[in-house]
Amino acid sequence: MSLRRLELHIERLSKSGDGVAQVEGRAVFVSGALPGEKVLAEVQELGKALRGEVLEVLAPSPARRPPACALADTCGGCDWMHVDEQVQLAEKEQIVVSALEHLADIERRSYVLLPRVPSPKPLGYRRRAVLHPADGRLGFFGRRSHTRVAVETCPALTGPLEPLPGALAAALGAGLMDVEEVHLLEAGGKVAVSVHLKGASKPRFGEVLGALIREGRLAGAVVAPGEGKGGVELFGQATLEEDGVLYRPDGFAQANAVVNRELVARAVEALEPQPGQAVLELYSGNGNFTFPIAARRAQVVAVESAPVSVQLAQQAARARGVAGVRFVQGDAQKVADGLVREGQRFDRLLLDPPRAGAPGIGLWASKLLVSRLVYVACDPAALARDAEDLWSHGFRPVSLQVFDLFPQTRHVEAVLCMTR
Ligand SMILES: C[S@@+](CC[C@H](N)C(=O)[O-])C[C@H]1O[C@@H](n2cnc3c(N)ncnc32)[C@H](O)[C@@H]1O
Repeated sequence: MSLRRLELHIERLSKSGDGVAQVEGRAVFVSGALPGEKVLAEVQELGKALRGEVLEVLAPSPARRPPACALADTCGGCDWMHVDEQVQLAEKEQIVVSALEHLADIERRSYVLLPRVPSPKPLGYRRRAVLHPADGRLGFFGRRSHTRVAVETCPALTGPLEPLPGALAAALGAGLMDVEEVHLLEAGGKVAVSVHLKGASKPRFGEVLGALIREGRLAGAVVAPGEGKGGVELFGQATLEEDGVLYRPDGFAQANAVVNRELVARAVEALEPQPGQAVLELYSGNGNFTFPIAARRAQVVAVESAPVSVQLAQQAARARGVAGVRFVQGDAQKVADGLVREGQRFDRLLLDPPRAGAPGIGLWASKLLVSRLVYVACDPAALARDAEDLWSHGFRPVSLQVFDLFPQTRHVEAVLCMTR
C-alpha cells in the first residue's frame, strides 16, 4: 500500500502501546492514538505491518490531555504523556492480560487479577536514565527513532537529577565528542553518574567529574572506557545505597524507587518462601529481591551475569550480615542447566529477566521441581511466551499484578505467580 491519508477509528492498544485500527481487514498501528478516538492519519506499509502517523485527532478520547513537557512530541522518553495516568495504568494492565490471552492462551478467568499499583509521583520519579550526546549537548533518543533530542532538564527525573542533562553537557564541553553515553543514578538522596567512552579514558574526564564532586553537585562518578580500552575508574562515592541495596551508575537499578518497594514486597509475598526452603533467583541484579527473600530465612541461590552487580550484592550482604545466600555470577541459562545436571531441587523460583525474557524457563522450572514461581516481567510479549512454556510444563497461573514503574510511558512491569 502506498502512502495514504485515512480516517481511522482506534479500537484498542497493541502490546507495544500503539493504537490499532482496521483498514481493509488489516491492522494499522498508530503511534500516540488512543482507544475510542477518530484520527486522520498518514498510513504506509512498513515491512509486513501497516503504520499510521497521526496528522489530526478528529474525535479525542476523554483521557487525552495536553502533555506536561514541551518536548513530549519529539522526545522518545515519555510516549504517553498525553494520557491521563489512571487510564495509562488500566491500558497497561489490559496489554498484559491480552498478551497472556492471545499469545499464551491463558484466559483472564484462570487467575486472580490483583489491584494495580500506581506511581504516587506521576513525574519526578525516575532515579536512573541514560543520556546520549546530541549536537554538543546531552539528550534522549527521539520518538520511534535513533535520532537524538537534546534536553536541558527533564521533568520525569527525580529532583536532584532533573537539571543534570544540561549541567553535565556544559561541564563535559568538547569532551562530549568522545562520549558514547552518560548514565545518571540517584539513590538515598545522592547522585552518581557514569561516563561511557567510545575509546580509552583521558585525564580530562577525571578532572571535570572531580570538580563536580568537589562542588557537591555529584557524590561520585565512574568513567568507563570503550570495550577493551581499559578498566573503569571510580571517583568520589560512586557506590550509593538505598533500602540496604548498593547501586552504581554503570549497573542496573529499578527506575522508580517508590514503586520498586511495593514491587519487591508484593513479589516476595506472592513467592511465599518458607523458612529453610530452597529458592532459586535468576537475574538477581544487586540483590533487590534477594535480601527480602533471605530475610524470610529461606536459602537463596542468586544468579546474575553482571560482575559489578554481583560484587555490590556480596558487599551489601557482608555489610548487612545476611546469611543463607549463595551469589553466582554467570549466564542464567547456563547456570540453570548446570543446576539441572547436578540434580539440584528448589522449592521456589523468582525470576526478573531483561526484555528478551527467559527462553527455556519451563524446562528448568520443572526439572528443578519448583512448586511455586514468581515471574517479574518488563515485556508483556516475552512474559506471555515464557508463561506458555511454563504452562506446557504443568504450571498454572495464580495471580497477576501490574505496577506503574514508568508513568508517562507505555512500559509496564508485571508480576505473574504460577504453581504446579
Ligand atoms: C530487569 S534486571 C533485574 C535486576 C534485579 N532483579 C532488580 O530488581 O534490580 C535484569 C538483570 O538481569 C541481568 N542479566 C541480563 N542477562 C542475563 C543473563 N543472560 N544471565 C543472568 N543475568 C542476566 C542484568 O544484568 C540485570 O541485572
